[in-house]
Amino acid sequence: MELFSQHKSVLVDEVILALRPGPQKVFLDVTCGGGGHSKALLDADPAVKVFALDWDMKAVERLEPMIEQYAGRFSVVWGSFSHLYKIGKKHDFPQFDGILADFGTSQDQIHTSDGFSFLNDTPLDMRMSLGHFRTTAEHVVNYATERELCEIFWMYGEERRAKEIVRRIIDERKKSKIRTTLQLAHVVELAVGPAHKGAIHPATKVFQALRIFVNKELENITAFLPVAFQYLSEGGRLACISFHSLEDRLVKDFCKTIEKEGRGSIVFQRPVTPTSEELIKNPSSRSSKLRVLEKIKSTDV
Ligand SMILES: C[S@@+](CC[C@H](N)C(=O)[O-])C[C@H]1O[C@@H](n2cnc3c(N)ncnc32)[C@H](O)[C@@H]1O
Repeated sequence: MELFSQHKSVLVDEVILALRPGPQKVFLDVTCGGGGHSKALLDADPAVKVFALDWDMKAVERLEPMIEQYAGRFSVVWGSFSHLYKIGKKHDFPQFDGILADFGTSQDQIHTSDGFSFLNDTPLDMRMSLGHFRTTAEHVVNYATERELCEIFWMYGEERRAKEIVRRIIDERKKSKIRTTLQLAHVVELAVGPAHKGAIHPATKVFQALRIFVNKELENITAFLPVAFQYLSEGGRLACISFHSLEDRLVKDFCKTIEKEGRGSIVFQRPVTPTSEELIKNPSSRSSKLRVLEKIKSTDV
């Protein structure tokens, strides 16, 4: 395991602007990852406290030096934000001045965990948390039915060529099981043609779809949003960073519903996106969108 996180946090200044860290404020970072956003909140004011969560044990272990560095102000729990209610009760979470969710995978996971990238050949695993899931992407690719695979690639990858890709997968897996990232990327190329210079790799959407399916990413966000809102104190803000339209749609619809019900107000009418400077420094930020919702009325958890 790498000792230090290689992840470059996105939209850090914008998150700080939105969450307004100040004396005695308490925050929850439910996707702590490499700790970049938590660190920025802690550094913004010496009396800020951050409770953090991540479901990747390797990420939690990597955060240990930060717990020491910010003794008494920073704590980390291993768990899924989809279980926020249970985790909050168990660890006696307070009401928060701000909650941050930076959805998706970290660069650490993409580069050092199995299955996420077709730039190197690793087993097709794709589970972000080995403790929460048994089913790997390899199992899905080799045992899901033709119809199930088509649905996964279409629903979670919005892949228009799902049918051709799935037919090829079914043919290839009859000959031998598809076990690694490069094998799967190759099968996709056999189905729809090779990668073109300057265009996204033809396997990108298939990989995204499998990752979302294996980790139940959309279900997790759906379970998380209403509970997170309950955990906000009056005037507290929920900041969500998403990386594709499926995640962003869930956040956008949730914010609109809460605003319509008069329980909160949307802070920025348009989602906040990276500046051109950030895009140059960190190209992985290109699809990130930040939405922020402020709680008007307090409700108990
Ligand atoms: C984009 S990274 C966050 C990076 C972090 N904000 C930083 O500044 O370093 C997403 C992180 O969320 C975690 N994650 C994804 N889904 C989760 C879930 N349901 N519960 C808890 N953590 C989750 C991943 O393990 C990963 O570490």
